[in-house]
Amino acid sequence: MAERFDVIVLGAGPAGYIAAVRAAQLGFKVACVEGWRNPKGELALGGTCLNVGCIPSKALLASSEQYENAAHHLDDHGISVKGVSVDVAKMVGRKDGIVTKMTKGIEFLFRKNKITWLKGFGKLAGSADGYYRVEVAADGAAQVSEAKNVIIATGSKARHLPGITVDNALICDNEGALAFDSVPARLGVIGAGVIGLELGSVWRRLGSEVTVLEAMPTFLAACDEAVSKECWKLFTKQGLKIELGVQLGQVSAGKKSVKLSYTDAKGVEHQQEFDRLIVSVGRVPNAGDLGLESVGLAVNERGFIDVDDHCRTAANGIYAIGDVVRGPMLAHKGEDEGVMVAELIAGQKPHIDYNCIPWVIYTSPEIAWVGKTEQQLKAEGRAYKAGQFPFAVNGRALGTGDSDGFVKVLADANTDELLGVHVIASSASDLISEAAVAMEFKASAEDIARICHPHPSMSEVMREAALAVDKRALNM
Ligand code: FAD
Ligand code: NAI
Repeated sequence: MAERFDVIVLGAGPAGYIAAVRAAQLGFKVACVEGWRNPKGELALGGTCLNVGCIPSKALLASSEQYENAAHHLDDHGISVKGVSVDVAKMVGRKDGIVTKMTKGIEFLFRKNKITWLKGFGKLAGSADGYYRVEVAADGAAQVSEAKNVIIATGSKARHLPGITVDNALICDNEGALAFDSVPARLGVIGAGVIGLELGSVWRRLGSEVTVLEAMPTFLAACDEAVSKECWKLFTKQGLKIELGVQLGQVSAGKKSVKLSYTDAKGVEHQQEFDRLIVSVGRVPNAGDLGLESVGLAVNERGFIDVDDHCRTAANGIYAIGDVVRGPMLAHKGEDEGVMVAELIAGQKPHIDYNCIPWVIYTSPEIAWVGKTEQQLKAEGRAYKAGQFPFAVNGRALGTGDSDGFVKVLADANTDELLGVHVIASSASDLISEAAVAMEFKASAEDIARICHPHPSMSEVMREAALAVDKRALNM
């Protein structure tokens, strides 16, 4: 007879493994289905995030930043370093070591929380007696388990473009772009989104000449306009060549290089040759072949599984979370949904304020924001006030040599409630947490302005920007 669980989770990415851990903490008998194999052919937990996403990309960003500092910026501090060189195999090996440590860490969490790992890929196979049936295919054989509740957390994969064959050697998506064996002299990147800018930065710092080709006429359209303008200035000054409004033509891969033609925003045709090409044009949900029809579900026209604000699907007891459902494709968004769903199953009343989910782009400087942009507030017709303060006059920023960027605070014109906070700074990923906490607590700009911030610190700029909302910044 099939083994019965209270909860079966499909997928062990950040959304799925966190849902499994929280459900186990709440006393449920939990299984998690996962069939991901790493390049060595070993089964691995952690999904996109740990294996080929957040963690490996941040490891390479950190290594390449160390190299760039040693090669170009230590001199500003009066320190001269000669003969700086890159050992790509060692750098990529360090990244792989971090990935292994993290993915093994989830195996430990599963053992600690007595979560059963069902090894293979799973699909729904109808229901009987109040239990959903889940078939797990591993090495050709299918094993059936049953559960009262199923959480679908199958994530997403890179979107590819017709006519451009990704082989993850010459033409790469995120998987290949995190594992180059040498620094390509000429690197092409299709898509100036989050992956294009982060991975483009890694290889530019290590010495590639990077050309980013973006279809949209505007740069970083999701960001506040002041942020995208400043980032355009900073990134192009660093040497990233970014072409907006392009229309791709023919792409042909040779043995050692890729030839690509495109039309620029003015309609002029260009031919370029690259030693490697990264395709980073968004991600698509993994929602095919999940047996959804066997439980009366289907994907929507965009390929996602429809859910309500609490990640409930139309089938009672089946939930979907993370990249496979609406909302930003971010690890922390999926994790929070995992916790929420496990607590819902336990009869609690959890809730996520999607407006308070922070975004970070790990370029140098980093870009981070939470809440609304100025252009969104204008479009909504909301009366707002804005305050902005630069790092260029902050003593800590000058001391560390990180004086690029600013904090911009948007607050309601009548109530002073924080509506959005936007940061460009070397440590924007950490600074934004203060704003996220403040917004969760429905704080006002004045609340941040009245809180004592340590001196000297980058966080003083957050306070000054909050003061600037009422035109009373102290240091400018
Ligand atoms: P995934 O992590 O994709 O995991 C889904 C899992 O489900 C996979 O392991 C897959 O094997 C498994 N699966 C699929 N089908 C089945 C099935 N039928 N049965 C069982 N298992 C199945 N986000 C951030 O917040 N910060 C970052 O810095 C960041 N950096 C990124 C960098 C890159 C290069 C990329 C590609 C993404 C990055 N992201 C980042 C996005 C982040 O990785 C995703 O939002 C996150 O991984 C989504 O989590 P998930 O659990 O929904 O899906
Ligand atoms: P993206 O959606 O961020 O950017 C894709 C870009 O490609 C867009 O600017 C789009 O206009 C452009 N594009 C689409 N089709 C094109 C074409 N035919 N020619 C040229 N340009 C084209 O997607 P990306 O960078 O692939 O990342 C996927 C997702 O992964 C992100 O949206 C994000 O959710 C997640 N991610 C998050 C990170 C973080 O939190 N720091 C880091 C990396 C990824």
